[in-house]
Amino acid sequence: MLRHLIEPGDFSKEDYEILFGLADRIVENPEKFGNVCNGKLLASLFFEPSTRTRLSFESAMYRLGGNVVGFADAKVSSTAKGESLTDTLRTVENYCDIAAMRHPKEGAALLCSKKMTKMPIINAGDGGHQHPTQTLTDLMTIRHYKGKFENLTIGLCGDLMFGRTIHSLMRQMARYDGVNFVFISPEELKMPRQFKDEIDSSRYTETDDLKTAIKDLDILYMSRVQRERFVSEEEYLRLKDFFILDNDKMKNAREDMIVLHPLPRVNEIATEVDSDKRAVYFEQAKFGMYIRMALIMFLLGLEA
Ligand code: NCD
Repeated sequence: MLRHLIEPGDFSKEDYEILFGLADRIVENPEKFGNVCNGKLLASLFFEPSTRTRLSFESAMYRLGGNVVGFADAKVSSTAKGESLTDTLRTVENYCDIAAMRHPKEGAALLCSKKMTKMPIINAGDGGHQHPTQTLTDLMTIRHYKGKFENLTIGLCGDLMFGRTIHSLMRQMARYDGVNFVFISPEELKMPRQFKDEIDSSRYTETDDLKTAIKDLDILYMSRVQRERFVSEEEYLRLKDFFILDNDKMKNAREDMIVLHPLPRVNEIATEVDSDKRAVYFEQAKFGMYIRMALIMFLLGLEA
């Protein structure tokens, strides 16, 4: 059966466990997986800038023995000539076995997935909407440091309005029992109503006070203010440094709290925090490649 990953709910909790188990096996013995994707081709279709997501997808495919074609700039694809996105994807389906796609429009990956007859599509970010493979990376990190997904208090901090990694992580973590959220943002960048409505109101609180909120958290998930989604540059400049996590704020946090960030970071975490053992965002980035290797194998139905 043809499956896609467009948003976290496309996979059951059991699917997630299969992926984590597979990623663990890859981390333990990467050589064993070096030929699993021989003869397979990944289409890497990035209509928006990316460093970690694109390079981790491409490294993942090469490390599985497959190959990659694609582009990292919307200007070089035929959509720049006016071709519809779905026509582009229907064409790519004739050449490639699987596609990872990032696009500035919400719903772009979903729209394309509906036209596919044989090629799985992975949403590598659709506008301010969802980013399910970052969530896989985040969950690998949480599992590594916390050993569980249940009964955790997660602070989501920064741009909750436009942050697609935030929306996907919230949606996925809400599926686990006893998980509560603290939404930490300026008034202008609050979590949109449509996402809040997905969970019971007893499971979240909202604040703009990071220094106080940090005390109760198991996980603090920081995020960048999403400059490219703002209509007004002035508004962006006013809000961009609203939160800066520094050593002073970290003093209020528990010894076993962890700080996550999907990266790229701009100013929202002072570099002095990087040496705090609770700052695990660069470790987090490492998990990204292994979980994407597992995801490619899973969607292509391949075994080592
Ligand atoms: C995030 C994204 O693209 O949404 N980055 C990533 O994939 N690691 C976060 C961001 O750009 O702020």
